[in-house]
Amino acid sequence: MAVKISTISTLIVFLALLSLGHFSHGELRLGFYNETCPNVEQIVFGVVEKAFSTNSRLAPLMIRLYFHDCFSNGCDASLLLDGTTSEKKAGPNLSVDGCALIDTVKDALEGNCTGVVSCADTIALVTRDLVNLASGGKARYEIPTGRFDGRESLASTVDLPGPQMSVSDTFKMFEKRKLSLTDMVLLLGGHTIGVTHCSFIMDRLYNFKNSQKPDPAMDPNLVKELRLKCPKKSGQNGAINLDQNVPSSDIVDASYYKQIESRRGILQIDDQLATDEMTKQIVKDLAVSNDFLVRFGQAMVKLGSFGVKDKDTGEIRTSCRSCKNLFCTA
Ligand code: HEM
Repeated sequence: MAVKISTISTLIVFLALLSLGHFSHGELRLGFYNETCPNVEQIVFGVVEKAFSTNSRLAPLMIRLYFHDCFSNGCDASLLLDGTTSEKKAGPNLSVDGCALIDTVKDALEGNCTGVVSCADTIALVTRDLVNLASGGKARYEIPTGRFDGRESLASTVDLPGPQMSVSDTFKMFEKRKLSLTDMVLLLGGHTIGVTHCSFIMDRLYNFKNSQKPDPAMDPNLVKELRLKCPKKSGQNGAINLDQNVPSSDIVDASYYKQIESRRGILQIDDQLATDEMTKQIVKDLAVSNDFLVRFGQAMVKLGSFGVKDKDTGEIRTSCRSCKNLFCTA
């Protein structure tokens, strides 16, 4: 009997550790650089604040860059590596930008603490600061650090959801990354800021599913407005705000959820969130909640823990665009 009890308790401890490992943020922790680069957060914020004051577009650009880097092969800055077949060259990443800001921040970090702070942590900290600045200081979250940089970057391994995918297929991709349905809806709240381009919505405006008609899910008044901005035969590919609430199109806030509830989502996936049985109640709650900013921060932290590399599986790059390891594939 004694053997049995000790076996059972060992099993319980083992299972508890297993589940801790499953839900913990791997090697990540707050204050990872306390000894090695104590001013890391101040250095990053100094550069980011200055850059944002002359270019507020950096906020949506970086939020998207963080999502694309983390979602494909983990948060390891593999998206920053230059190369003829690197992740940057994959279709969905061609319009991703923001690398120049990471270079500037990284140079400032190298000047203070050489070879210490990873590019992956630089992306996480810069994104956190830009979310904060673009919310008027209302959305500041703590983000654990300790990510190492990946040594591999291949366009062929980029795995991102497309705007025409169903909610359930999109969720399968989030689930694989240990993100819940609510996390997915919160993270898509990233579309509270930034733009898309006419080419992504022409089908919704003119020929939805080959019907020669607009997407019936989109508010007909919005269809009219957007048709003016995206004429059928124009070769231009104009920018369209993802958050159609004009006063807050450039602000991180919860207005995206109100917009998609009013059928004013821009991408098909945005509108679907508000109508699909799986997600509509979550959207409804977020549209009237006052804790979106806190919960968005928590979801960003969770996204930032996916596929993190450690000192054995990654490295600390000095230039974020090229890796040091001889076996690097980029
Ligand atoms: C889940 C499925 C998602 C799909 C299908 C999707 C798709 C897209 C597309 C097509 C664009 C416009 C690209 C362009 O016109 O160049 C875009 C922009 C953007 N996405 Fe997403 N996205 C998704 C999730 C997310 C998430 C989770 C975040 C944030 C964590 C995010 C943040 C952004 C931002 C900030 C922009 C604006 C970028 C800019 O202004 O340059 N997206 N997304």
